[in-house]
Amino acid sequence: MIIAIDGPAGSGKSTVAKLLAQELNIEYIDSGAIYRTFTLYGMQSFEGNCAGHEDQIAEAVANNPDLISITYENHSQIMWLNRKQVSKELRVLKLTKQVKFIADSPRCRELVNAKIRKISQSYSVVIDGRDIGTIVFPNTPYKFYLDAKPLVRAKRRAIDLNIPQEGEEFEELLKSINQRDRYDMDREIAPLKIADDAVHVDTSDLSIEQVMAVILGHFERIKQSDKVF
Ligand code: CDP
Repeated sequence: MIIAIDGPAGSGKSTVAKLLAQELNIEYIDSGAIYRTFTLYGMQSFEGNCAGHEDQIAEAVANNPDLISITYENHSQIMWLNRKQVSKELRVLKLTKQVKFIADSPRCRELVNAKIRKISQSYSVVIDGRDIGTIVFPNTPYKFYLDAKPLVRAKRRAIDLNIPQEGEEFEELLKSINQRDRYDMDREIAPLKIADDAVHVDTSDLSIEQVMAVILGHFERIKQSDKVF
């Protein structure tokens, strides 16, 4: 079973995906963390800048299966780079600004998708990302698209990053979220968009418990429909 959850930053997808994984006793694949690990490798190898080095990064990953690896512990995904745990290094702003180069690279995307598909062959999974329901698993019947107003999403991200929900730093965060949305939606390859058959949930005014109730309701409905064998 594959559950796809797509949506922009701060829409609540990773929180929902983690809770679903626990609830259904399946694994959670954080596809953004895989893109971020490619980015970290690029930044470490090319003086902090991945731009123009995307093919070299893809080649290094393709030629060395141990360079980037993924393990699971208590339904948590752990990212490894060169046999070192890097999950905690992936969410800094400097890196977030560089991910777009990797996300724009067809060769890097292919490698990320291959990793995701391989895990999904062995386990039932819930995967969050931007293109999971449209490109990576277009045939899964379980597809959700979470969204929320940009200001609400920026406030949630401010809480995650432990910064104030107003003022200069917050304005910078809001701007970077809006820029990243535009970039993810406008790019030619695997843009962020709502799959025709996805359940669309606006989480702006919902608590996480309410979002979970909506998602689990749809999950049961889809499971019982004759589309799933
Ligand atoms: O957690 P947040 O929504 O801020 O980002 P993320 O899921 O960690 O993803 C970081 C970036 O990776 C996104 O802005 C996308 O550019 C890219 N990404 C993608 O292109 N496709 C995916 N399936 C997942 C992430």
